[in-house]
Amino acid sequence: MKRRKFLKNASLTGVGLAVGTAVTSCNEQVEDKSIASKENPESKAVLPVVVATWHVIDATAKAMEVIESGGSALDAVELGCKIEEANEKGQSVGKGGLPDREGNVTLDACIMDKNGNCGAVLYLKDIKHAVSVARKVMEDTPHVMLAGEGAKQFALESGFEAEDLLTEASKKAWEKWKVESKYKPIINIENHDTIGMLAVDKNGDVSGACTTSGLAYKMNGRVGDSPIIGSGLFVDNEVGGAVATGLGEEVVKTVGSFLIVELMRQGKSPQEACEEAIGRIVNKPGKDYKDFQVGYIAVNKKGETGCYSIHQWFSMTKFQDGVNEQIQSHFFNKS
Ligand code: GLY
Repeated sequence: MKRRKFLKNASLTGVGLAVGTAVTSCNEQVEDKSIASKENPESKAVLPVVVATWHVIDATAKAMEVIESGGSALDAVELGCKIEEANEKGQSVGKGGLPDREGNVTLDACIMDKNGNCGAVLYLKDIKHAVSVARKVMEDTPHVMLAGEGAKQFALESGFEAEDLLTEASKKAWEKWKVESKYKPIINIENHDTIGMLAVDKNGDVSGACTTSGLAYKMNGRVGDSPIIGSGLFVDNEVGGAVATGLGEEVVKTVGSFLIVELMRQGKSPQEACEEAIGRIVNKPGKDYKDFQVGYIAVNKKGETGCYSIHQWFSMTKFQDGVNEQIQSHFFNKS
């Protein structure tokens, strides 16, 4: 079961859900423990490793294939993310992404390499592979970010093809949304999700990328955390990397991915660092985290991994040591 549907079926009102072999519901917190033994971030310092937000087995498989055939972590995360960007069934990334409230599908993406170089595109229209345009920004321009019309112009000049990203299914969903047009920027946990991917290759080099169509039915012009280096993604080749999914506004306010990498630099495990970053969000005075989801994944240079979210039902896909598997995340809100 994939990302948006996964969350939809698992609303906080408590609908049961099958996750791999673990069948759980909001009332069966004990199931979370049984999954926990699978995810002991201290247990595996094995390279290479690829991790990604949500259930994206095909994407992590592609990334590992790239690494196994001698490719870099950077190639791996780009090609892995492209799998989801091309997957029209995924309504939160690339082609088929849900549009803003005016019907525009706009993509945000970024990428970061082992040397600390980075590139990003914001509010990119009509170009499916936003992550590849972000890489081109990194490699072929003196800039880090290109937005809107300029990003599209650059993509077209770089040889990317323009296409309509609004599929029939996404158009239908938008038309249904328009009936009520709830104009609230408050996002519940089923509203959107980003694909973020981190890889450590055979040389021990770290890279990361993330890509999204952002919040469904967002205001025209809205940009989230995903193209913001330090918020949606951060990589430091001396330490590791982190990537975020969920309500970008809350990730940006705490510069979450940079925070996680810095916490790992100070000696925290990826798991501890993700938990502290979620803590920064939920412990803010007056913050009602019940209405939105944020999830983080992280990897350190040794190949240890972590993931943590505010609410249940976040998951990470990890390909390591010959096993490509979905791992259910631990989470903060047990109420
Ligand atoms: N995390 C994706 C977004 O908020 O747009």
